[in-house]
Amino acid sequence: MNIVMIVGSLRKESFNKQLANTMEERFKEKINLKIADIGSLPLFNQDEEHDPPQVVKDFKAEIAQADGIVMVTPEYNWSVPGVLKNALDWASRVDKVFIGKPVMVLGVTPGVAGTLRAQTHLRQILSAPGIQSKVLAPGSNEILISFANEKFDEGQLIDEDTLNFLDRKVEAFIDFVKTA
Ligand code: FNR
Repeated sequence: MNIVMIVGSLRKESFNKQLANTMEERFKEKINLKIADIGSLPLFNQDEEHDPPQVVKDFKAEIAQADGIVMVTPEYNWSVPGVLKNALDWASRVDKVFIGKPVMVLGVTPGVAGTLRAQTHLRQILSAPGIQSKVLAPGSNEILISFANEKFDEGQLIDEDTLNFLDRKVEAFIDFVKTA
């Protein structure tokens, strides 16, 4: 099973990137998780949507070939970061490679609300006509990680309760992808 991960933070020490890296390693026997390079995508320009730069073509091909998508996002000003929205805007046009893709949504914040507002907003974006992904209902795969400073160390998620929770949610997502 090939799953593409989209991480909404470009920060070197990003907690969300650390979570994605932890998942890539932890679940490698079960699924092939690969982080897409959305930081190289230019800003969306509708003039270019029919013949976009090669990096955009490559990104869209990666999504088109994926069995599912895992989105790991910080919350910026109660929403998703622009870099993540930019990637979704490219993906939503012309060949609309996101349509029908099973998506799992996760987010990490040092704050208390666990990216809930960003994830709620993201689910709305994922329902747009050009995207129309299949997202498990909130509660089924909603993974909100708060107080990140206490749960990560040396580039990895180390909190046992959160890791056990993640194991169950990833299993549920794998089942979801198989039946999608
Ligand atoms: C934030 N942060 C933040 N946190 C939050 O819980 N709710 C929010 O609305 C915001 N808003 C916000 C805006 C901007 C522009 C920045 C840079 C940050 C804090 C954010 O959760 C924190 O910086 C995380 O560490 C960012 O995720 P990464 O980079 O660690 O993955």
